[in-house]
Amino acid sequence: FKSEEDVVVVAVNDESTIYDVPVEELSLPPEFDWGGATAAYQIEGGASQDGKGKSIWDTFSHLEPSRTNGENADVTCDHYNRMPEDVDLMASYGVDVYRFSIAWSRVIPLGGRNDPINEKGITFYNDLIDRLRARNIEPVITLHHWDTPQEIYDRYGGLLNTAEFRADFERYARLCFSRFGDRVNKWITFNEPYIISIFGHHTGVLAPGHSKATGYDSKTEPWRVGHTIILSHTAAIQAYATEFQPSQKGSISIVLNGHFYEPYDTASEIDKAAAQRRLEFFISWFGDPVFLGKDYPASMRAQLGSRLPEFTLEELELLRQSASVNTFYGMNHYSSKYARALPDPPADDDFTGNVEELPTNSEGVEIGPISGTSWLRVAPVGFRKLLNWVWDRYHLPIIITENGCVCPGESQMTLEQAVDDKFRIRYFGLYLDAISRAIYEDGVQVKGYYVWSLMDNYEWSAGYVPRFGITHVDYKTFVRTPKSSAFYLRETFKQRRAPT
Ligand code: NOJ
Repeated sequence: FKSEEDVVVVAVNDESTIYDVPVEELSLPPEFDWGGATAAYQIEGGASQDGKGKSIWDTFSHLEPSRTNGENADVTCDHYNRMPEDVDLMASYGVDVYRFSIAWSRVIPLGGRNDPINEKGITFYNDLIDRLRARNIEPVITLHHWDTPQEIYDRYGGLLNTAEFRADFERYARLCFSRFGDRVNKWITFNEPYIISIFGHHTGVLAPGHSKATGYDSKTEPWRVGHTIILSHTAAIQAYATEFQPSQKGSISIVLNGHFYEPYDTASEIDKAAAQRRLEFFISWFGDPVFLGKDYPASMRAQLGSRLPEFTLEELELLRQSASVNTFYGMNHYSSKYARALPDPPADDDFTGNVEELPTNSEGVEIGPISGTSWLRVAPVGFRKLLNWVWDRYHLPIIITENGCVCPGESQMTLEQAVDDKFRIRYFGLYLDAISRAIYEDGVQVKGYYVWSLMDNYEWSAGYVPRFGITHVDYKTFVRTPKSSAFYLRETFKQRRAPT
């Protein structure tokens, strides 16, 4: 099942306490790419430098009382002013790919389709792309990683106004394709639409912070926002496929996140159905329209009724056409949970498929050990199952566009302790092992692995506390220090190419 060249042997640090699964060896195909991932608001800083406009995150992170642990990303890693150094750093790690996002309000400060372009913003990304390519690193660009321009939110409610947002997003996407597309092979329209819709417009913990408690309609807003994202995605795909792809020859897709869900009680049929329903409410909400070119899953229509918007016949046709343009499935994945059916009827603003999520099953078994962030448990078996689930449903090659963790207690560590990140190394080893098993034992196509994150950065409503980086960032001096996991990944992927 593997040729000599395919094999990479990975030393496992047995001092790690995190999981009791041996990872003796990993095998990954030779053409498998690895890289680092980031997002503009989380690393750039330069909040109003060189004509950048405000995004909804610039507003949200300055609200009083604070919704973001008292912290904002006005400066964060100062990547905007240190970009050449950061490209050198990733080159030293031997990455094949760098996934980053463009700050829409840096290139069109007011965001709208008739608003002026900021050439200085364009220059920044051109320079980044050129520097990457000079080092043989492939740029993978996300167009929307949550930072909607503030002005278009003020004008018409941003993602709540489907027709306006879609037209503005299409113009922004076209601008990016035309200015950068000659040097870019992979585009991602939106990052994690589930999070934008639910966390931005239901629980309200992310920008723009809409929730029942802040006076918004959490029964319908998330589904309207999701609908806008899907249709804006199709508009960008159509523009790319008809006007740019013929000459630029790149590919374009969307990034969906999702935990895997195991039934709380494996003997219970209703818990089994709940786990499947939870996956559909999380992933297929976007996956079915975007990758299968069809309506929302039947389980969602059945429960949500008129809360879920309808696609017109023309929109369904557009979905169908754009589904065939997607060439990969972008997957962000971190953890798994148990799913337990809740009693009917669901709450009137339920978004889960009427499912309770738990870290422990009916027999008291934990899904996996906890990491440095409470929502993330180490559960590589769930990852392998999710890869299979997505492959079975969508049959597209999968790129892991984000995976990573925070070590327990990392935010309190000294620099010396933080760079010795055995827990993260073990996590990567286990999750790469899950990929290799999915590829070779299950026949799933997985084409790449991008770690979250290239460097510690601003973790949204949690501020600077969680450190997800393979590079430590000192937020006072901006000094970057590689953690051991960066070298682990470098060596892992180097041996895979040229085994010794
Ligand atoms: C997903 C998001 O895309 C990213 O912005 C975030 O920092 C990581 N997950 C970690 O929570």
